[in-house]
Amino acid sequence: MDLVVNGVRRHVDTDPKRLLLFILRNELNLTGTKYGCGEGECGACTVLLDGVATRSCQVEAAQAAKHQITTIEGLADGATLHPVQQSFMQCDALQCGYCTPGMILSSVALLRKNRTPSEADIKQALNGNICRCGTYNRIVAAVQQAAGKV
Ligand code: FES
Ligand code: FES
Repeated sequence: MDLVVNGVRRHVDTDPKRLLLFILRNELNLTGTKYGCGEGECGACTVLLDGVATRSCQVEAAQAAKHQITTIEGLADGATLHPVQQSFMQCDALQCGYCTPGMILSSVALLRKNRTPSEADIKQALNGNICRCGTYNRIVAAVQQAAGKV
């Protein structure tokens, strides 16, 4: 089966029902996508499918193959971090970093749709992403800082 990941067509020899999260991490070595709950509840495994923030632990390979898949590894432009990655660093919007790839990809999806989100918009868009370190306020500040740059 072929998957288009970060703009590159990748062939994986896999069961079409295998979950995208495990293909990304185990077959394609894209370990920026994190395994949290495995039940669609924490957002750690968030990727973009055609630009839509999606829980990769809930998507089978056959379904993922119909879409352009973007993981955290696909955001930077060479050595230049994506504006949302830059603002997360500048705002210190992470501690352990486990939630960060999912937070950033959910933020990118929001900012591509809404260039000037309110604080309420940001909180709603990130509502399904859990940060066990409690960096929520700094995450909101980082998304506000990146607004208009995506
Ligand atoms: S690991 Fe997918 S939502 Fe938690
Ligand atoms: S920074 Fe640790 S879970 Fe969010």
